[in-house]
Amino acid sequence: MTERIVLAYSGGLDTSVAIGWIHDATGAEVIACAVDVGQGGEDLDVIRQRALDCGAVEAVVADARDEFATEYCMPALKANALYMDAYPVVSAISRPVITKHLVAAAKKYGASTVAHGCTGKGNDQVRFEVSITSLAPELKCIAPVRDLALTRDKAIDYAERKGLPIETTKHNPFSIDQNVWGRAVETGYLEDIWNEPTKDVYTYTDDPAFPPVADEVTISFAEGIPVRIDGRPVTPLQAIQEMNRRAGAQGVGRIDIVEDRLVGIKSREVYEAPGAMALIAAHQELERVTLEREQARFKRTVGDRWTELVYDGQWFSPLKKSLDTFIDDTQRYVNGDIRMILHGGRAQVTGRRSETGLYDFNLATYDEGDAFDQSHAKGFIEIYGLAAKQAAARDVANGNGEDLGEAAQQDDA
Ligand code: ARG
Repeated sequence: MTERIVLAYSGGLDTSVAIGWIHDATGAEVIACAVDVGQGGEDLDVIRQRALDCGAVEAVVADARDEFATEYCMPALKANALYMDAYPVVSAISRPVITKHLVAAAKKYGASTVAHGCTGKGNDQVRFEVSITSLAPELKCIAPVRDLALTRDKAIDYAERKGLPIETTKHNPFSIDQNVWGRAVETGYLEDIWNEPTKDVYTYTDDPAFPPVADEVTISFAEGIPVRIDGRPVTPLQAIQEMNRRAGAQGVGRIDIVEDRLVGIKSREVYEAPGAMALIAAHQELERVTLEREQARFKRTVGDRWTELVYDGQWFSPLKKSLDTFIDDTQRYVNGDIRMILHGGRAQVTGRRSETGLYDFNLATYDEGDAFDQSHAKGFIEIYGLAAKQAAARDVANGNGEDLGEAAQQDDA
């Protein structure tokens, strides 16, 4: 039987050429697999037909938008996932869902190998291949751009020579990856890290310097998941889409950073994630109201580790799954409403309301009749500070007391 290879297919020039290129180099039959994670653009049927026209023996297309929103974006929201405190792991969470569909296609069509269009310098190759072998250890992986010398120039030449039904003239200077959780732009002019991103970099957000009138929104959460916007029920996908539209119109969620790739390179990335950033801001504030203090502190550590694992391609790893269990457990009481003002690039929380929150007005108030017994504070501080006081006394006795520095010079005239 002829060997079969499933190719992660985007419909663009490189992966269209890769179909024939892989066949020529290996003799295998190529099955193209395109997965819709909300990247917009062309109709799946158009993409499917193009794959067949470029020589694929089969073309599988999957609308994975709800699956991606529910099973990948929502866990990222629950973790408040921001890699290096900034990047909402847009591309990192799409690779595992795409991989699920690739592996399912490989099983269905009896393929031995999965191929993807990544270069040898990025994170995405790692995410695909580690995810593939985590789901199906028997599968092999190849990357034609990295392993079969498929360069951009060769791809253009090949497409023209074979008359493939794909545009070869439109060359975007940027490398772009986008889905419903956000958009990543790199390379070209942005590789000089002093260069300011030009206006044409952005498509999910309008310029925050010229915002329309402020937009007030109320997001209701149940167990950490957005379930209503301004009182209307929404699915996770609809919540992200609506917040992309409304926060995007206000220029919320533009991110420009130098980040540490897994492969050791520092790279300049421009992201737009209006919906993700607004939802994370709302979710984080609701957690401040609803999580017990120690649980909240520890969850930050867990969330950061979760984010690094996901960034590093370990979505299906045992540790990531264990951390999911912890994070899910913390979300039991993350219920309630967050009101925000979206304006001029900011998503600013202005109100919060929760039936399961831990904020107690009667404890917090400075008005008459509060329920907090201040007389207990004195004894609490005495004992709480005891260990530090003992240590300080020993320092003083040994001539090592804290130097008062400039403060000692002050004249009290
Ligand atoms: N640096 C980001 C990440 O590793 C974005 C990668 C985007 N991929 C691309 N082909 N432009 O998650």
